[in-house]
Formats: sequence, C-alpha cells, structure tokens
Amino acid sequence: MRGRIVRVSGPLVVADGMREVRLFDVVNVGPKALIGEVIELRGDKASIEVYENTDGLRVGDSVETLNMPLFVELGPGLMSNVFDGIGRSLLSIYEHSGDRIGTGLDTIRLDHKKLWHFTPTVEVGANVAEGDILGTVQETSAMLHRILVPVGVEGVVETIEEGDFNIDQPIAVIKTSNGKEKVCMHTKWPVRVPRPKVAKLSIDEPLITGQRIIDTLFPIARGGVAAVPGPFGSGKTVVQHQLAKWSAAEVVVYIGCGERGNEMTDVLREFPELVDPKTGKGLMERTILVANTSDMPVAAREASIYTGITIAEYYRDMGYNVVIMADSTSRWAEALREMSGRLEEMPGEEGYPAYLGSRLAGFYERAGKVQTLGSEPRVGSVTAVGAISPQGGDLSEPVSQATLRIVKVFWGLSASLAHKRHFPAIDWLISYSGYNGKMDNFYKTNVSYEFPKYKSYIMRMLQEEAELNEVVQLVGFDVLSDKDKITLDIAQVIREDYLQQNAFDEVDTYSSIEKQNKMLRVLYTYATLASQAVENGISYEKIIDIGSRAKIARMKYTLETELDELDSLESAVKADFAILENKEGI
Ligand SMILES: Nc1ncnc2c1ncn2[C@@H]1O[C@H](COP(=O)(O)OP(=O)(O)OP(=O)(O)O)[C@@H](O)[C@H]1O
Ligand SMILES: [Mg+2]
Repeated sequence: MRGRIVRVSGPLVVADGMREVRLFDVVNVGPKALIGEVIELRGDKASIEVYENTDGLRVGDSVETLNMPLFVELGPGLMSNVFDGIGRSLLSIYEHSGDRIGTGLDTIRLDHKKLWHFTPTVEVGANVAEGDILGTVQETSAMLHRILVPVGVEGVVETIEEGDFNIDQPIAVIKTSNGKEKVCMHTKWPVRVPRPKVAKLSIDEPLITGQRIIDTLFPIARGGVAAVPGPFGSGKTVVQHQLAKWSAAEVVVYIGCGERGNEMTDVLREFPELVDPKTGKGLMERTILVANTSDMPVAAREASIYTGITIAEYYRDMGYNVVIMADSTSRWAEALREMSGRLEEMPGEEGYPAYLGSRLAGFYERAGKVQTLGSEPRVGSVTAVGAISPQGGDLSEPVSQATLRIVKVFWGLSASLAHKRHFPAIDWLISYSGYNGKMDNFYKTNVSYEFPKYKSYIMRMLQEEAELNEVVQLVGFDVLSDKDKITLDIAQVIREDYLQQNAFDEVDTYSSIEKQNKMLRVLYTYATLASQAVENGISYEKIIDIGSRAKIARMKYTLETELDELDSLESAVKADFAILENKEGI
C-alpha cells in the first residue's frame, strides 16, 4: 500500500491514503526511504514520526508501509557495538560509508556476513520448547552468547550442526506440529513489546556497583530501578559512567540520549581501555552503546530507550544480569514533548503530553529479576538507571515527579555538594533506597553481620551533623561541647574519608564490598572509641590528634590486593586510643 505526503513539519510527516496501515507500523518515507513510525491515525491520514532528517521531503512524495512494527535485530554482533536510536549499527555504517550516515532500512543493523562459530548443546532428536538453549557462540571474550529456541516454537530437533555460520544461515531445523522451523542465529523483536518471561521474581540481592555511597547507604537491587536527578554539572553522567564501568553485571547497555556528542566520544574512547576488575577482560567486551546524541534526529531519541531495553531483555533471557543506563531521560521527555506539540495534542503540565508517565513506566517496568522461558528456566535480570536533568535542579517538574513515582531508588545530586567538590554529589539527606531492608539481610549473610549496623550508624551521625550545623551557624563551633565537636569530627571522617570517592583515581574509582566493609569497620572503631574517650574526659584536641586518624584519610587508597592493611589500621586505631586512655596494650 502506498500513501502520499500531505504535510511535513520537522520530524512529523502526515500522509493520506493510509487506511490499511496499523498504529506503530514502520513506513518508508519519500524517495530516500526514510524510516518512520505511524504514531497517530485519523481516517485515512497517518501521522508519522520520521527517525531521520526530513530535509528535502515534498508534499506528494510516496509513503510505503512495511507492515511491521519498529523492531531491533537480536543476535551475535550486538555486544561491543554502537547503535543509533532505532538499532542501526553505527560501527558498520561507519565502516561501509564513512562518517556519512545513509538513510532507510537498508543501512546496516547487525552484520549479516560475519561468520560465528556455533557449538550445539542439544542433539538431534531432542525435544525443545521456546527459550531452550540450542547452543552457544563466543561473541566476545567476555560473552558466551546463548542461541535460544525462538518464542512460540516447540518441537523435535531434526538437524543441528557445529560450524561457522552467518546470522542468516540456519543452525538447526526443528520439526513442529505444523511443519518445520529453520532456526538462524538472529531474531527480530518489536521494541515497544516486552519480551516474554515465565515470572517476575522477588528482588533479594544488591547489584554491587563499587561506589561506596551507593552500595552502603542507598543500594540498588539486581532487577531494581533507580533515578539520578541532579542540576547541571552535578555529576549525573559520571555516576552513570561509573555504574557502566564497575557494576557487577555481565552485560551493560548504555543509552546516550540527547546528551552532548562528546560525552559519547568519552565513552567510546575510555571504555575499550578499561579492564573489568573481576574478569580481567576489557569493559567494552560486555558493553553495548545506544547513541542518540543531541546532534542526531530528535524523533529517534524517543525510540532509543525502547531499543536499549529490548536488547537488555534479550541478554536477560539468556540468563544474564544486565544493567541499563539512560542519560538523560529529561532529554528523552523533551523529544516526546516536541512530537506531541507537532501533533497538536492537548498539552499537560509544562507542555508534556498526558502520557509522559505511562511512557516512562513502559521503560522502567521492563526492568526486573525474572525466571526466563525454557524447559530449564534460568534467572536473569535487568536493572535500570535513568538520569534526570531538571531545570535548575527543581524536582517538582513533571519528568522528575513522574519518575519518582516509578523508581525505588533515588540518588539525589546536590549542587552545593558538587560546588564543594564533594563527589559523588549524592545528597544523603534527600536520597533513599526502597530496597534497604532486603539488602540488609543479604549483606548480613554474605558480607558481614555488622554491615547494616555500620550503615545505620553512619546515617545517624550524618543526621546529627546536619542538626549540629544549624547550631554552629547560630553560635559558632567553639561553644560546642567536646562531645558535639567529636560528633562533627566523626561526620567529617565519614563524608571525606568514606563517602567521597574520586571517579578519576585509579584505586579509588572502585571499592569492592569487602573493602567497603573493612573501611566501615575502621570508621566505626574510630567513632565508638572517640565517643567513649570524650565520655571519659579526654579532650577533643587530643582525640583528633592521634596518629591513626591521619591514616584513615588515606584508607580509600588501599589496594584491593592489600585489604589486610585495613585490619592493621583498625588495630592501630585501637592502640592509639589505648595509649590515650593510659591503658596497657589493646
Ligand atoms: N565521582 C566523581 N569524582 C570526581 N569528579 C567528579 C565525580 N563526579 C563528577 N565529577 C566532576 O563533575 C563534573 C561534571 O560531572 P557530569 O558531567 O557528570 O555532570 P552532569 O550532571 O552530567 O552535567 P550535565 O547537566 O551537563 O549533563 C565532571 O566533569 C567531574 O569533574
Ligand atoms: Mg551529563
């Protein structure tokens, strides 16, 4: 079926003669076959969101429907790749056509010529059902890609072979009740439809990020959802980069959504050089980038988060833990607003469409820990983290409000902390984690029984500090009692020597949970002994002068291979206080 353009307004094209087209079908627009998606139907008129530059389109140009929704290709070759908002490989485009990006669907998604070595894990004659593993491909040195029986297919394996195949060649034939199904190594999946699962599982373990304030105070669960709101320059992108680099996940999907192109360049330049501390493999070996930077077509930005989460679900279905980052969902929402405005829809708050909240939920609700399809179901997870950039940091605006209603963890960045160069500028007085209770149980059994105690102690001291600061502002520091002075000292040690973490320092950039636990123990020992000493009449000046206190300031630079040093430091703290209190030994 062929329609005709009657109106062009930026990325929005209206065509008539489109009676048979369905909502969300993909269409080819104009002589260059630009890709667009039908987003509204009225009579025989279709409003089309065009994902490419519409310059040069004319009234009367043809529009052709492809009779399918916007999809991504899923298969080997995703990993380490860089895609645009609608799932076309920017790396392949670059290789084939230099830095000029071609148009239309012909431009490359996955590489269909490349050969992959397929190793079967089932034999001829096996009964298989959707989601069962047929075999594997070593996609990168860090990723064993599992080839699954496609959704909706069930039967007996008639042929299956080891060998080198491209993603279009059949690797197996399955005899089903109504014929034969040739299975190749890729599938297409509509981006707006969640991939099926057997069940959503309850959330019970943290996704360790190596970022102390996150893991200790405001943990995110595997399969959880978090938001990082913060004003301009407060460190949202650095937080997301840190999570992409250090999270304990097998797969990372990073969506650069309407942010500056140079931030994506940073990722492209930095990630290949970084090594995963756990596997010793390059970080890019487990990372997929979706780039829709501010200089790329605005409409594709809307699709980019669904493209990203579909890829994330695909690896989840193989039984992996995936973490997906979107920077920034505010830029995404602006794209939504722009399209809504062009459609002349009734604007909601601040011009955003009324469906802003449900579209955001459509992204975040696809996160979770799941039992996957398959006769022997696997467990996989998608953890989603979105940055929000509210104007002037004011969280009462619609995107922040809609997000906060959905997410369970909230890492609120504060301009004043960033201004003081306290990074990460996650404000402990406004942030929270809805997973805290469950994570405490995990930490108790898997890290140390004391961990939750350290955490609540820290929170209490930081709150006391906030209250004391108000007093100090009124009457000055000097009039405080020694006990209060020590409280402020402990809080300072917590802030500067524990919570502050330099993303750009080779050692400090990542702290294992074991290191966090040992650091906390040193802190707690110092804090309790200092409080006790004050009670026993030892002066504030004497306490802060002990030798080991200066060493606490450097404990974050302890190497992961030398964590014993933290045990020695704890003994040194005890020894110092023993001398102060005039006792023999420890
Ligand atoms: N953990 C950190 N360690 C050291 N420096 C940091 C850290 N986090 C942020 N910074 C500093 O803050 C600067 C701004 O951070 P970033 O670009 O992440 O802010 P942003 O909130 O994403 O800004 P924008 O609103 O422009 O997107 C960084 O360039 C860096 O100098
Ligand atoms: Mg940023």
